[in-house]
Amino acid sequence: MEESVANPYQKYPVRINSVYNETEDKRLKTFGLSFVNSEDSDYFFSQSFQPGQYALVWIPGYGEIPLGIASAPTEHNKLVFTVNKTGKVTSKLHTLTEGMLIGLRGPLGNGYPWEKLKGKNIFLIGGGCAFSTLRSSIKYLLSPENRQDYNDIWIVHGARTPGMLLYKDNFKEWRKRDDVKVHITVDSTSLATGEYHVGNVPFVLKQELPTVDENSVAIVCGPPMMIKYSIDPLKEKGFLPENVLFSLENKMKCGIGHCGRCSIGKTCICTEGPVFSMAEVNEMPDDY
Ligand SMILES: Cc1cc2nc3c(=O)[nH]c(=O)nc-3n(C[C@H](O)[C@H](O)[C@H](O)COP(=O)(O)OP(=O)(O)OC[C@H]3O[C@@H](n4cnc5c(N)ncnc54)[C@H](O)[C@@H]3O)c2cc1C
Ligand code: FES
Repeated sequence: MEESVANPYQKYPVRINSVYNETEDKRLKTFGLSFVNSEDSDYFFSQSFQPGQYALVWIPGYGEIPLGIASAPTEHNKLVFTVNKTGKVTSKLHTLTEGMLIGLRGPLGNGYPWEKLKGKNIFLIGGGCAFSTLRSSIKYLLSPENRQDYNDIWIVHGARTPGMLLYKDNFKEWRKRDDVKVHITVDSTSLATGEYHVGNVPFVLKQELPTVDENSVAIVCGPPMMIKYSIDPLKEKGFLPENVLFSLENKMKCGIGHCGRCSIGKTCICTEGPVFSMAEVNEMPDDY
């Protein structure tokens, strides 16, 4: 264990326990992992791991990539990642099966500011694989040990079609609860069941969200277009720039503030982020 603390590049071996296709196009897979060594698991979970943090996942011979942690610390020793097949490492990861070993470093980054968010109304808004840290956040917020610390909870999840929606079993549970408002939306569907809205996420924000005060915080994760077009509806509803939180997905290498690969101006995304408020993003250089 001491070796893990001393060397920030130390990777822990983790075993793949489950793999399944998350979406009908098979581009998103969800992996369930467990630590091979119990001392690595103790170390990881003793770091006050926060929803919104990420880990660097390493496949020997292919590379190391940042992935948002989709499981919550309240799920106790469970590790879940949802991976979009985009290039070299993620394509290799998609070929791996149960029982195989890979490496992992983390938890890394700041996560969402859960202490500061206590007593607030929380709106979790997202789509695509970026929803992974929202899954972690929702599991955390709705756990019996935390639910009383937060006020109203709203979830808005969007996808292109019903088959592209994520975490369907989790959503079934969340929809049954009367202490959370869930809005699911798809861009198009041939089956108008009443289960979903039909329209994009910004449209649903305009239609369904109440007007809010400074006690409400929006956590927004998703494709750049979704984020871009969600900003105006959120402002119109009354969210303050400091109360809208984004998770930035810049390219990363070391994950610990050494290499400079992830920087935007003077801001080091891998250690100071990836979570930043809209007010902070507005202060970043224009080319971001
Ligand atoms: C904090 C953080 C959390 C992330 N969480 C997730 C997650 O939960 N699930 C998930 O599937 N992906 C996530 N990503 C994105 C993921 O890290 C990249 O998709 C991955 O690094 C691509 O690696 P590759 O070798 O497969 O692709 P490459 O062969 O390196 O590149 C393929 C394509 O992906 C683009 N790309 C490469 N790196 C990134 C990056 N960091 N962000 C965006 N685009 C990139 C390249 O420009 C290129 O177009 C996250 C990124 C960050 C920074
Ligand atoms: S990834 Fe190396 S400094 Fe951020």
